[in-house]
Amino acid sequence: MSAGALLLWVVIPYVALTIFVVGHVWRYRRDQFMWTSRSTQMLESRWLRWGSTLFHYGTFLAIGGHVIGIAIPAAVPDAFGIDEEGYHLISVSAGTLAGVLVLAGFVILLYRRLRFPRVAATTTRTDLVAYGALTVALVTGVIATSGWNLFVSGYDYRETVAPWFRGIFLLDPNPELMTEPPLIYQIHALSAWLLYAVWPFTRLVHAWSFPIQYLGRPYILYRRRYAPARTGGG
Ligand code: HEM
Repeated sequence: MSAGALLLWVVIPYVALTIFVVGHVWRYRRDQFMWTSRSTQMLESRWLRWGSTLFHYGTFLAIGGHVIGIAIPAAVPDAFGIDEEGYHLISVSAGTLAGVLVLAGFVILLYRRLRFPRVAATTTRTDLVAYGALTVALVTGVIATSGWNLFVSGYDYRETVAPWFRGIFLLDPNPELMTEPPLIYQIHALSAWLLYAVWPFTRLVHAWSFPIQYLGRPYILYRRRYAPARTGGG
């Protein structure tokens, strides 16, 4: 195994994961008050509504795709009768839809941040790092899914990228698997570790504070405040 492969596909992932975990604990203990998306909805809401909705729904779809294609071994869809060809068709069409939604949302959010000075003024240096890492991860992901599969040859990442990714978490890393995929898949995977390493220090921490209880909580009741009943007499 070459030293370069060891560095790229074993050392970097574990360093990034360590920063991710320790960074979140540190941030939570030190800076809980700023554990927020630092919403700018009060400053501009029309573009935000579109950008945020597209970006988040696209992201949820892409996360689902990553779980099915990378976290779950290919043997599982196989057992349900979905062969490589069927899987490929589903992954390219759902992945392309996810990519279009997430990129469209991201472009709207970036445009909004540049266009409205009040929003631009809230942008910090860590935001710029997060936007940079997101840009590389999103663009390379979309080129891999849509560009590579539709315009080049297509690539079965479930033979290489997926088992390598699972191996990291099973503490059985196999860096050789990552020397084979096309460059765009390699850059995509590396950019993801960069994103995980900066995550705890950015507004992305709000992802762990989704108010799940909102889905099941009782409605808020608004009642009309009637004028107090007049009492007779003087
Ligand atoms: C180490 C972690 C990751 C790995 C191994 C990984 C791997 C992949 C692979 C194999 C594809 C599919 C390419 C194809 O269909 O041929 C993909 C697509 C994509 N990835 Fe990732 N990815 C990772 C993390 C991320 C992160 C953190 C983001 C977003 C910030 C992201 C965003 C995307 C997008 C938008 C697509 C295209 C849409 C889709 O197919 O879901 N990925 N990724």
